[in-house]
Amino acid sequence: MGNLNASVDLRRDGEIAIVTVDNPPVNALKHEVRAGLAEALRQSRDDVAIKGMVIACAGRTFFAGADITEFGKPPQPPGLSEVIAAIEAMPKPVVAALHGTALGGGFELALACHFRVAVAGARVGLPEFKLGLLPGAGGTQRLPRLVGPEKALRMIITGDPIEAREALADGVIDTIVDGDLTEGAIAFARRVVAEGRPLRRVRDRDDKLVAEGFADAAEALTRRLRGREAPAACVEAVRNAIVLPFDEGVKREGELFRKLVAGDQSKAQRHVFFAEREAARVPGIPDGTKPRPMATAAVIGAGTMGGGIAMCFANAGIPVTVVETGRDLLQRGLDRVGANYRATVARGGLGADEMERRMALINGATELDAVRSADVVIEAVFEEMDLKKRVFADLNRVAKAGSVLATNTSTLDVDEIARATARPQDVLGTHFFSPANVMRLLEVVRGAATAPDALATAVAVGRRLGKVPVTVGVCYGFVGNRMLARRSVQAERLLLEGALPQEVDAAVTDFGFPMGPFAMADMAGLDVGWRIRKGRGERDEIEDALCEAGHFGQKTGKGYFRYEAGSRTPLPDPEVERTILDASSRAGIARRAIPEGEIVERMIYPMINEGARILEEGIATRPSDVDVIWVYGYGWPVWRGGPMYYADQLGLAHIRDRLTLYAERSGDDSLRPATRISRLAAEGRGFAS
Ligand code: CAA
Ligand code: NAI
Repeated sequence: MGNLNASVDLRRDGEIAIVTVDNPPVNALKHEVRAGLAEALRQSRDDVAIKGMVIACAGRTFFAGADITEFGKPPQPPGLSEVIAAIEAMPKPVVAALHGTALGGGFELALACHFRVAVAGARVGLPEFKLGLLPGAGGTQRLPRLVGPEKALRMIITGDPIEAREALADGVIDTIVDGDLTEGAIAFARRVVAEGRPLRRVRDRDDKLVAEGFADAAEALTRRLRGREAPAACVEAVRNAIVLPFDEGVKREGELFRKLVAGDQSKAQRHVFFAEREAARVPGIPDGTKPRPMATAAVIGAGTMGGGIAMCFANAGIPVTVVETGRDLLQRGLDRVGANYRATVARGGLGADEMERRMALINGATELDAVRSADVVIEAVFEEMDLKKRVFADLNRVAKAGSVLATNTSTLDVDEIARATARPQDVLGTHFFSPANVMRLLEVVRGAATAPDALATAVAVGRRLGKVPVTVGVCYGFVGNRMLARRSVQAERLLLEGALPQEVDAAVTDFGFPMGPFAMADMAGLDVGWRIRKGRGERDEIEDALCEAGHFGQKTGKGYFRYEAGSRTPLPDPEVERTILDASSRAGIARRAIPEGEIVERMIYPMINEGARILEEGIATRPSDVDVIWVYGYGWPVWRGGPMYYADQLGLAHIRDRLTLYAERSGDDSLRPATRISRLAAEGRGFAS
C-alpha cells in the first residue's frame, strides 16, 4: 500500500483497493506505470481483506495509451499484455474508472477489467491505426466481442473515439457516474461485491461475433487506404476474433503488431505524430508568454475562404462576425455557408439543431465598424495588395487595441500589409487551406514586427479551431505553395516531353497522394491561372490552349480530363491528348515514353529541393515542420512521413545525384541541388540528423 513508485499509488477504502496512476500529461503506460500496476494487482490479489479493486488515473485523462516513445526500444517487462492478463485473471472484481480519453492500450486495459464506469465527458477509442499500427494489447479481440466485428473494425480503422453515452448504449461501459468518479467507482465496486456478482470477462462472450456482413464492411472501410500495411492486419485480426479461439486471436494480434511496429510505415507515422506536436513550439516566443484572450472573432470577406474560416470559428463555438462590401454579396456568402452545413446534415455528419446553433454564431455585417469588439480579425478579401492595405489601414482605425489582425493572403508580403497599420506588432498571416472548414493545416505567417504574444495567440486560436498550426516566415507562397510550384513546373514539362495527364496523376496517386496534380487543377479550375497569366502577358503552352478551347476543369465538364455529367471521376480525354501532342511539336520536342519512376522523382525531388532552400532561409523552423505542412495541407501520404523525412530515408546523396542529373538534362539550373542538400550529403547526414 501507499506509493508503489513515483507514478502509482495504492490505497484502501474498506474492502476496496484503489490504484491511482499519475503520469502527466496523458498517463501513458510507460514502464514504471506498468510495473506499479503489476505490483498493485499482486498485493490486492494476495490480501484477503481486499474484495474488489478500482483502477483510476489522476490528472486530465485515463491512460491515453502505450508510451509511444518506448516503441522501437528493447521491451522492459512487465509488458502491457502481461498487466492486462493479470487484470483479467484477478479473482476479485476490477473496475476501470474512465475520464478524459481512454485510448489505445489504455482502453485495451479497461476492456480487460471486469467492469467499466465513466464520467459523461469520457471518450474511448483505439487510435493505433493513426500510428500505422493495430491495437496490440487484446483490443482487436475484445472490442468485437462487445460491439460486434463490423463496428469494432470501423472504430479501429478510423481511429476515432466514441463518447461515453454511445459506449454505454453499446455495452462497452456499465454506467455513467455523476459526481466524483473515483467515489462512484468505489461505490460501484462495493455493490458488485455485496451482490456477489460474477466477474464478467469480455473474452468469454461470443454473442456478438457474427461473421455475416463483415467481409463487405471490411472491403468498404479499406478501399481508400491503398499502399498502407496496417488495414489488412486490422481486418485479419478482427476476423480472427470471429474464427479463432480468444487466446489464439490474441497471439496472432501480437505477431501482427510486432511486425507493424518495426516497419517503416509506422515509424514514419510516429515521426508525424511528434512532428505535429513539435510544430507547436515556436522559437522566439519566450517561456511564459500568454496568448491574448480570445472570445470573439471577425472575418473580412465572405468568399470561398472567408465563409470557410467563419465556419471554423462557429464549429469551435466562437461567435464570429463576417463583413462584406454589400448586402447581396453578404447574403450569397452566408447562403453558401448554410448550404455547406445542410450538406453535412444530409450526410448525417451533423445534427440539425447543432447546425442551427453554429449558424446562429455567425453574424453578417456590411460595415467594418462591426469588427470593433473582435479579439481576432482575419482578412480574406481578394488577393490584391492595394485592397489589402486599405482594409488594414481601416482595421487600424476601428479594431480595438490589442486585437490580432491577420491576413489570409496566399502570396502577398505580410510585412508590407503590416506597414499599412500603426501596429505591425499585432499583424501576421493565417494561411488557411481550401476548403478552410475541412483542411487541417494552418500556416501562421510571422512578420518581421509580429509580437511574440500575437504569434502565440494565432497558434492557440489555430488549435482551438482544430487545426495544425505551423509557423512560417514571409516569402512568396510561404512553405507549402512555394514547394508545390516546383511540382507544377515539372508536371507541365512532363506533358511536353511525352507523358499524359493520366500517367502523371497515376504515378502521384500510386505514390500515395489522394489526387494527382491534374485532377487537382481541374477541381480548382484552370481559368483562374489563365486570367492571371493573360494579365501579366505570360503563357503556358498546354493549359492556355485548353482554356481557349473551353476546358476550365470540372466546372465545364472538361479540363485536363473529361467528366461525365454528375461525376467527378477524371477520364482520359483524346482531345486533350491532341492538344498536348500539338504543344510538344510546336516546342520542337520529340516525345518519349517516360517511366513511372522518373515521373515520381520529378514530382517529388524538386519539392524537396525547394524545402531545403526554405530551411536555409529560415522560412521554416525545422524539417519536420515542412513534413507537417505537406501531410496536413496537401495529402502527402502520412505513412511516408512527409517530404523531408522521405528524403532522409532515401539518403540525401541520392537526392543530390538525381537532381544534378535532371538539372543537366534539362538545362534548368533551378533543379540543381540546394546548398543544404549538397553539404549534408557530403557529410553523410540527413535533414534531421
Ligand atoms: N505516448 C507518449 N507520449 C504521448 C502519448 C503517448 N501515447 N500521447 C501523448 N503524448 C505526449 C505528447 O507528445 C505531448 O508531449 P509534449 O507536451 O512534450 O509535446 C503530450 O503528451 C500532450 O499531448 P497532446 O499535445 O497531444 O495533448 P492533447 O490534450 O491535445 O491530446 C491525446 C491528448 C488525445 C491523448 C493525444 O495526445 C493523443 O491522441 N495521444 C496519442 C494516443 C494514442 O495514439 N494512443 C495509442 C498509443 S499506441 C498503443 O497504445 C499501442 C498498443 O496497443 C499497446
Ligand atoms: P473570393 O473571391 O472567393 O472572396 C473574396 C471576397 O472578399 C469576395 O466575396 C469580395 O466581395 C470580398 N471583399 C472584397 N473587398 C472587400 C472589402 N473591402 N471588405 C469586405 N469584403 C471584401 O476569394 P477567396 O478565394 O476566398 O480568397 C480570399 C483570400 O484568401 C485571398 O487573399 C486568397 O489569396 C486567399 N486564399 C485563397 C485560397 C483559395 O483556395 N481560394 C487558399 C488560401 C488563401
